[in-house]
Amino acid sequence: MQRGWQVLVLVAAASLSAAAMAQEQKPLTNIDREPLTGPEFSTKPQPAPKEFAALMRQNNGVIQADATGTEGGGGDATATPAATRGVVTFRGSLGRYLAAPDKEDWDGLLKDADTLEANFTKIEAFFAERKSADGVALAKSGQKGVSDLAAAAKAKNRVDVIKAEITISVACRNCHIAHRVLNIGMPLTFGVIG
Ligand code: HEC
Repeated sequence: MQRGWQVLVLVAAASLSAAAMAQEQKPLTNIDREPLTGPEFSTKPQPAPKEFAALMRQNNGVIQADATGTEGGGGDATATPAATRGVVTFRGSLGRYLAAPDKEDWDGLLKDADTLEANFTKIEAFFAERKSADGVALAKSGQKGVSDLAAAAKAKNRVDVIKAEITISVACRNCHIAHRVLNIGMPLTFGVIG
């Protein structure tokens, strides 16, 4: 009898945690992610071709998200002044073109949109060749931000430019989390999976 009661309590606890998990399963990002279980994840991380790394550095010149001055996401919080911790800054050319309200460089913003569009097209082709559906989806989500950016710059709407910049940098960050691997060794190197 007493044992039956314990089982009941366990079942209640299990269904409570199932409810909590269901709540946590709300998407945290702006795309639905594929589970990273495809055959592309069975190989060792590959070094990226030089041109791929070069276009990534060009992306960074445009976006440069975060207070650390590195590409999107993460960073050493302790190296950041307290007042700006948790605040994402955009210090690339996009941010500079917007810096002075009422003196935005809309043509510069459109040029950046062209650069990013060309780069995201190459990123998508790179992941398509590797048969990485997730990489392709991430490149597409970035491309959506880029077309929003071009539309906002044409409409001279700075708030929409910033929203588009956030969408783009979410794509940068999410791809780096899923597909960019830091190989621990001397020297530190990066590789691509998926
Ligand atoms: C769909 C995937 C994907 C997207 C989207 C993406 N990246 Fe990357 N990026 C990578 C991978 C993979 C590497 C690691 C390549 C390597 O070094 O082996 C990388 C490397 C980098 C690097 C390091 C380049 C170097 O010097 O070696 C920078 C900087 C960078 N990305 C910035 C960006 C920015 C900014 C964006 C968004 C505008 C972006 N990336 C979007 C996958 C992506």
